[in-house]
Amino acid sequence: MNRIANILKGHRVRLLSKAFGLYTPKRSSYIPTVNNSTVSINLFPSRIEIINYIIATKGFTKYLEIGVRNPKDCFDKIQCDLKKSVDPGVEYVKNPVNYKYTSDDFFHKLQHKQLDLPHNFTWDVIFIDGLHLANQVERDILNSINHLSPNGFIVVHDCNPFLYDLDYERVIEDFWGQQWNGTVWKVIYSLLCSRGDLDVFTIDLDEGLGIIRRGGGRKLLEHTNKYYEYKILQENLKKHLNCISIEAFLSLMNAK
Ligand SMILES: C[S@@+](CC[C@H](N)C(=O)[O-])C[C@H]1O[C@@H](n2cnc3c(N)ncnc32)[C@H](O)[C@@H]1O
Repeated sequence: MNRIANILKGHRVRLLSKAFGLYTPKRSSYIPTVNNSTVSINLFPSRIEIINYIIATKGFTKYLEIGVRNPKDCFDKIQCDLKKSVDPGVEYVKNPVNYKYTSDDFFHKLQHKQLDLPHNFTWDVIFIDGLHLANQVERDILNSINHLSPNGFIVVHDCNPFLYDLDYERVIEDFWGQQWNGTVWKVIYSLLCSRGDLDVFTIDLDEGLGIIRRGGGRKLLEHTNKYYEYKILQENLKKHLNCISIEAFLSLMNAK
């Protein structure tokens, strides 16, 4: 029972309710106006809507996606003037992306002028959704910061493991498949504890969307989960991932 109750707390409730017609996302009453045009978003958006919202609201033009699989799922739906994609093709054999490399190889080649881009090229939004292992995600984030425009956003998928029951820890960390969240959460927690120069938070939707921007002056989180125990994350979820609601994110985006 406990396990079922925990699962029911997760994001799957929304998805299942949606699938069975029990829930229809409402359009937000919060409709900001940007550059004389209206950018609207519903209150239970996916990663796609959040990314498009950031691009539209900020008037951004350059988008990079790391880890694409089938571009029809996300990449093709992103509305931005210049879009580039990186994937070694582990999960989708066709792999129709711009750069068929691992993210490490991609950044190495970029740095060493081996790509059709200036070595110091910067993107406005970089979506990190490649290999979901903490060490890799951390490298992806650090490399991305070096290629992020001054006001740019890094968006990281799978930051909030969607099953909150301890019995599922191994599944969350080890299972390689569609619903694999991996250990991405450890990187968000680590950055919150160590990088006061970065603004870091997790929008509590679509399995946790981590947002990272250049910031400054943020008070560091105390590193109490020294051994990155999943149980401790579970007990301190909101604090340790700095979870914010979609409403809070929208006001933040539109704050002067
Ligand atoms: C979860 S899927 C991406 C889903 C897609 N971004 C979306 O939103 O629908 C993860 C992708 O990461 C790719 N991948 C695996 N290892 C990688 C690496 N080292 N660097 C970049 N991408 C990697 C896999 O091939 C797979 O296509």
